Order: sequence, then structure tokens, then C-alpha cells
Amino acid sequence: MSDPEEVELEARLEEQESFDPPAAFAEQANVDDASIYDEFEAAWPDCWEAAAGMLDWDEAYDTVLDDSTPPFYEWFTGGSLNASANCLDRHLDERGDEVAVEWVGEPVDEDNRSFTYGELHREVNETAAALRDLGVGEDDVVTMYMPMVPELPVAMLACARIGAPHSVVFAGFSADALATRMNAADSEYLVTCDGYYRRGDPLDHLSKAHDGLANVDHGTETVVVDRLRDGDGFGHGSGDDEHDYDDLVAAHEGATVEPVSRDAEDMLFLMYTSGTTGEPKGVKHTTGGYLSWVSWTSRAVLDVTPEDTYFCSADIGWITGHSYIVYGPLSLGTTTMMYEGTPDHPDNDRLWQIVEDYEATQLYTAPTAIRAFMKWGTEYPERHDLSSLRLLGTVGEPINPRAWKWYYKHIGDEACPVVDTWWQTETGGMMVTTLPGVKTMKPGSAGPPLPGVDATVVDTNGDEVEAGRAGYLTVGRPWPGMLRTLYRNDERFVDEYWAEFSDTDSDDPADWVYSPEDGAKVDEDGYITVLGRVDDVLNVSGHRLGTMEIESAIVGVEGVAEAAVVGGDHEVKGEAVYAYAITEDDQAESEELRERVVEAVEAAIGPIARPERVVFTPDLPKTRSGKIMRRLLENIADGDALGDTSTLRNPEVVDDIQARASD
Ligand code: PRX
Repeated sequence: MSDPEEVELEARLEEQESFDPPAAFAEQANVDDASIYDEFEAAWPDCWEAAAGMLDWDEAYDTVLDDSTPPFYEWFTGGSLNASANCLDRHLDERGDEVAVEWVGEPVDEDNRSFTYGELHREVNETAAALRDLGVGEDDVVTMYMPMVPELPVAMLACARIGAPHSVVFAGFSADALATRMNAADSEYLVTCDGYYRRGDPLDHLSKAHDGLANVDHGTETVVVDRLRDGDGFGHGSGDDEHDYDDLVAAHEGATVEPVSRDAEDMLFLMYTSGTTGEPKGVKHTTGGYLSWVSWTSRAVLDVTPEDTYFCSADIGWITGHSYIVYGPLSLGTTTMMYEGTPDHPDNDRLWQIVEDYEATQLYTAPTAIRAFMKWGTEYPERHDLSSLRLLGTVGEPINPRAWKWYYKHIGDEACPVVDTWWQTETGGMMVTTLPGVKTMKPGSAGPPLPGVDATVVDTNGDEVEAGRAGYLTVGRPWPGMLRTLYRNDERFVDEYWAEFSDTDSDDPADWVYSPEDGAKVDEDGYITVLGRVDDVLNVSGHRLGTMEIESAIVGVEGVAEAAVVGGDHEVKGEAVYAYAITEDDQAESEELRERVVEAVEAAIGPIARPERVVFTPDLPKTRSGKIMRRLLENIADGDALGDTSTLRNPEVVDDIQARASD
């Protein structure tokens, strides 16, 4: 940093508030004309034929949008298609020998696998035949509890091929979380694996799957992928209802399975996500609308072309991996990458090594990762040739301008646009972000809504706020990638996402507004800055966690009477879990109890929800009506000024909690 040119550059970047698309990028961008915004507006909802038209349909749809019973919208009705045929079969003629999936495993440099479109198609067909043979029928929900192994996208596409919706449970989730999700979906099939590598060591995954299955309240058939291929433990095949993946697939060698023609509105998959109650929500996505959405946004925003080697570092266990590792990129016939492990093993340059080795053209990652890269320093990216990169993206949480600029400069060399993409599990794909070839970027602000997307920031009455004022992000019109409902719970779907700003008695779509539960502000150019959740949901390293789920795990610990969980600021994770717990009268506030609290959270949810701090307190700050004042607990976690505490029923506890939290 003592280099004067470097210092000058840093200073310039620090001050610069907007960045135009780099000229060389703009020239070749998939979307290179800003008139698309007006065109889509004028043609809405028919503008979305542009997305549906990117797919191969078995039966053409007759209606673009059926909005007769809001908020139960339907898209491309009358049409039918198969998602696996769109991701595989239609590319075979031209791209059968091109790589579809590049898998970069651990141990580093030993365990990598490439699947051409031809090979992926073959394995998906064999797996589809095997699953069918096990009894999986159309509309049966198949759960997948798998880390980043190539058999995960294979199994997803195999399910899509036979019309069986998948429900992928993040491998880092606990056995309890697996059981809850399998029970909620009545899922009688599980695909899992023996273990996987993380930071050089094999982890036992199958025991966790078995623990989960012990709490599933119906019979299941389980398929186990032999990922470790080590034969030294974590064995499998323990019962009649447990099957070896390789054996099953081998038994169907060369099988072809005709893709099942699915109605546009048929469920493609379920994804459970956290909400404000303890019960995870089963977000339902459909075949036609979802696939159109992720295909269109992959092309328009991530600028994916078939010639690319596109790298998204997310986990397929979350929606980002579903939409932008599997379905979006494969529907476009590109090479999509996935990696096993972590960005800091064997060293802090793992991602940059991968980018260099595979000449990745796009990188889509999370702000939490970028903050970690910043902390580690520029020496790691500087070791590598990153010049293959053409575009950078972020997703999952707000990115602060400093991290944005670091990414732009040190990874993109000021030659790659950065797309800060706001969206959710529920939206299926991107909603608010810049189109990289045509829109100026403003670090810290996701950007304008995508063409055809009606996102606005409103006050509590639902009226649009003035530029610069904070309010609630809302979406006024439906879009093809939207969730259709919460699985088997239409009522909760309406309550959670629509009731706040809609006239729920009306059947006029104009009276219905989607509420994503995010705070936001908008500037005079219509750029939206998302500020974070306004409900009791935390965003830890870009992962969504419900405070209620964590609290109920903590109060389940013997000796704990009451608990409150809030998010505190964290340099790398963005937010971290802070837990405040009241012990029962005869329970000592011991280190041992603290450990039991942490263990209970890990057992109920997984290590991602591990509390950063557990503060024991004789009482929690409550309003006169008995509501816990979470804002105050957040301020305590952040070491901020507390403001007015006079409305509390028990203001005297505050000093005590503050003293304990700073111990
Ligand atoms: O709060 C927003 C935040 O992540 C939430 C959605 O979480 P999830 O459903 O797990 O999906 C994550 C991947 C799409 C949102 O409600 N969020 C997501 N992207 C951004 C964001 N916050 C600010 N800026 C973003 N780009």
C-alpha cells in the first residue's frame, strides 16, 4: 500500500459512487439495450414470453398469466415441459461432448470430475430408472441430504425427469432438521451419502442421516452415495431399505427414461426455509415459471452463454445453488462448476486457484465470502491469473460499498461488472439488480428492479416512500418464478407474504402486493438498497435462520427457563447469533450450561446457527404488555447506545444485561 499509485487508486475508488459497465463487457453483453425496460413495461405480462420462449415445450401454453384467483397466480398455463429435458436432452446434438458439470472436489487436485452433457444425460437417465424401480412415482417428494457432490445435481435432474419433486436439505443441517423436513413433506425417499471432505478431513454424514431417519414417522427407502470411496468406516447398506447408489445405477446401465411431460404449474421442487415461527416453510416452485425465470435471469444478469465456464461458489443445498448452479446454467447449455470444501483450504486462495485452473468466466458468490477475502488480504488473489473472469456477482445479504469495491478491483481488475442481486428462496430467482451491460452500478445498492418486475419501497400504509427514506420492499405484480404456495399450507402463504399490504378480500390482482419482509430504501434513480430483514429472521453468512427455531432449541435445554435470540453485527458473517437466556431458579449459570445451550442449537439446526455469545441474565427487557424488546438486545449485542428504556416494565435489568454481555 505504500506504492503512491496504489494509494491514489484506493482513494479514487473510495470516493467513486457509481461505475459504468466496462466498455468491453457491454459490447458483448447478452442484453445490450436499455430499451428492454420500457419494452417489458409496455408488454407486461406478455413480456415474459421472452423467458418461456427460451425453453422447449412439449405442449405450447395458451395463457401467459392466469391472475383470476390472486395470490394463487399461474403462469404459462396449458403448457407442458420437462425440466431435465430442457437442461440435458436438447443440448445433446450440439453440445453432447462439451462439459456440463465441472466438479472440483477435495482432497484438492486429486478428486475432480467432469461430466459432458452426454455423460450427465446418461447418468441422469440411469438414476431416474433406478429411482423409479425403487418405487418413486410422479409427484412423490424425494428428499436429498447431500453435500456438494455431483450425484446431487444428478439426483435432482433424475427426479425432474420422472416428475418427482425434490426437497434438498442442506448437508450442514442437523439430523433433527432433516427429520422435520421429511415428515412435513411425507417424503418416503431419501438420497444421501456416506460422508464428504471438508478442510482435508472426511466427515461422517451417514450417521447424521440415520439419526434423522430414526425420527421420521413413516417408512423410507434410502439411497447412499459412496462418496468417500475409502472403505474404512462410515459404511452403508445397513438394512433392506438402504441401497447403494452405484449398485442401483449399475443395474440400470444404459437405461433411457422418457422425460415425463409436466404441466407448467406442476411442482418441480420444494425448498424448506426459515420463517418467523419455529416451523420451516415448504416453498413450492413450479416447472414452467421457475425454469423460465432462472433461465432468463442467468442469461440477462449473469450473462451466461454456452461457451462460458460459469462458477457459483454457493451450496446446492440453498436456493442459490438450485437456481444458479443447476437449473439456470444447465438450461442454457453452459459449463457450470461446483466445488467441495471451503475457500480457506488448503489455503486462502482456493477459489482463485479454481478460477485460474478452469478459466472461469463468471464468479457468483456471497458478501460474507468477500469480507473474508478482504480480511485475508490481496496476496491470495494476486497469486493467480484471474483474467478469464468477465463478470462478478453477489447474493444473499447486503454488501457494503467497501467490500463491493474490493471485489471490483482486486478480483475483477476493474474490468468486470459486479451484479448485486437481491432475491429470495420464495422469488425463485433474481428480482432487483443491474443489467450488467446497460446499467450503471452503485456499490451498496442492488439496483433497479429487473425489467417487468414491479418492486417498490413503501411505508406502513403501503404508500411509496420518497427517495432516501427507508421503508418496506414490496412487489406489486406477480412474476413467473414466484413461489406458488407453501406446501400444504395456503393459509400461511397468504398470511406471511400477502396479508400485510393486500386487500385479502379482493379478487382484483391490483389489490395484492407481495411482502418479502425486507427493509429497503430507494434513491432518485430508482436504485434499491436492501437494508435487511424486518421480521425475526437472521441472515448469518447469507444463510437464513429463524430466531424462533433457535429459541425453541435453547428453551428445550434443562435448566433454561426463557430465551431470546437476536442478530448482532459481525465483521465477516454480517450477522451473528446472540442468545440471551434466563436460567431456572435452581440452575447455576455455568460454563457447562452454556455448552449445553450451544450443543442444543447445533443439534436442532446445525453448526451454522451456533451462537456467537450466550449471555445468562436474570430477566429479559420487556414492554408493559410483556413483549421482549429485541431492539434493545440487538443494541446490547452491538455495544450501541440503548436509547429510551422508560417504556420497559423492568428497565432495571438493562444495566445488568449490558454488564454481563460485555464480560
Ligand atoms: O434479506 C434478503 C437477503 O436474503 C434474504 C433471502 O434469503 P434466502 O431466501 O435464504 O435466499 C438467499 C439467496 C437468494 C432476503 O430476504 N438478501 C438476498 N440477496 C440480497 C439480500 N439482501 C441484500 N442484498 C442482496 N443482494
